[in-house]
Amino acid sequence: MSAENKTYHRFDVARRIEHLLLIISFTTLGVTGLIQKYALSSISVTLVSVLGGIETVRIIHRIAATLFILEGVYHFIHLGYLLYVQRKQATMMPGIKDGKDAVQSFLYNLGFAKEAPKMPRYNFTEKMEYLAMLWGFIAMGLTGFMLWNPIATTRILPGEFIPAAKVAHGLEAVLAVLAIILWHFYNVHIKHWNWAMIRGTMTRHQMKEEHGEELEAIDSGKTDVEVDPQTYKKRMAIFMPLSIVFAVALVAGVIYFITFEETAITTIQPVYADVEVFVPRTPTPLPTLPPTPTLNPVAANTWDGSIGAVFAEKCGLCHGSNGGLSLSSYGDVFAGGTNGAVLVPGDPEASKLFTIAAPDGSHPGVFSEDEWDRVRVWIINGAQK
Ligand code: HEC
Repeated sequence: MSAENKTYHRFDVARRIEHLLLIISFTTLGVTGLIQKYALSSISVTLVSVLGGIETVRIIHRIAATLFILEGVYHFIHLGYLLYVQRKQATMMPGIKDGKDAVQSFLYNLGFAKEAPKMPRYNFTEKMEYLAMLWGFIAMGLTGFMLWNPIATTRILPGEFIPAAKVAHGLEAVLAVLAIILWHFYNVHIKHWNWAMIRGTMTRHQMKEEHGEELEAIDSGKTDVEVDPQTYKKRMAIFMPLSIVFAVALVAGVIYFITFEETAITTIQPVYADVEVFVPRTPTPLPTLPPTPTLNPVAANTWDGSIGAVFAEKCGLCHGSNGGLSLSSYGDVFAGGTNGAVLVPGDPEASKLFTIAAPDGSHPGVFSEDEWDRVRVWIINGAQK
């Protein structure tokens, strides 16, 4: 094996599993989140239906979020172990050297610097990504909590915080996904394939390019001093109980986070029963009898109701109680004239007082069309008093 192909250990199995959990939770969050943010795009519509509908998508999103947070809890406690028990250096913390490395790297890429920077165990690109991840974790956790538990949130904060949290959550998601696709994928997959998170090791060639400073330290034998067993035991005696308390508290916090409020997923149950949304009005039943022209809405169709008045007006002048045919009272109408009855109840055509006074007739006194009609109906109905 040539010296350049010599490999250097970088990540143990636990870190690689952590990375795998991140891939799973982050990708799931990104996919199920973005199809909710851009719900109207055809890709989203297809994916939502493939995944089983919006309710399912939201549940998957929350399961992935829980996994993501639990990963964060584990990472935090493990960090405590590395810093307190093993007294490792906080190699992810950025410093001035990283700023210089970034500038030099930029100039080198443009051909203005002769040498690429010799970078530490974690170079500036990795530190930026780690901090972005940390920031994203906090920002997404907070805004996600607000969206997951809107009622609890609005007990403390004004209602505007919910739509604001939604916008922030969605835009930070776009930023995070783009950061992974552009920054992370470029640095570890496109520039060259980085096996460190899969095999756990890195070649000398790649170490030189990306972690030159660390490689020099390794070559010169400057490695981390192992903790002696006694000190280790002492520190673990403090770290273990503390970390257990922390772990229990944090996991309890996560459980509280995901369960303490019922939100839209469970409060609004979809209605699957057959509900008629359009109920036509029952048609009005047809009248049982065809309409008759009987009905005078103004006054009753009787002698006293209106007919008497009509006779008085149209006939009274000549057919009063001054001899001959009198039409001035109900009794007189039945009494008839010198030639006998002029009224046959039920039969207008046989009633002279009806036929003689037709509107187009030549009698000195005639009814109007309307009056004539009412008199006809009055006779048909039996010439009621
Ligand atoms: C301008 C006067 C005048 C008016 C108004 C008048 N009539 Fe006469 N009517 C007469 C005269 C005149 C006769 C013939 C003399 C008679 O038989 O008494 C007559 C005859 C009649 C007769 C025949 C009597 C019979 O015994 O054969 C009837 C029926 C009659 N009128 C109905 C009416 C009715 C109904 C009206 C109202 C719509 C009316 N008339 C309005 C003048 C009038």
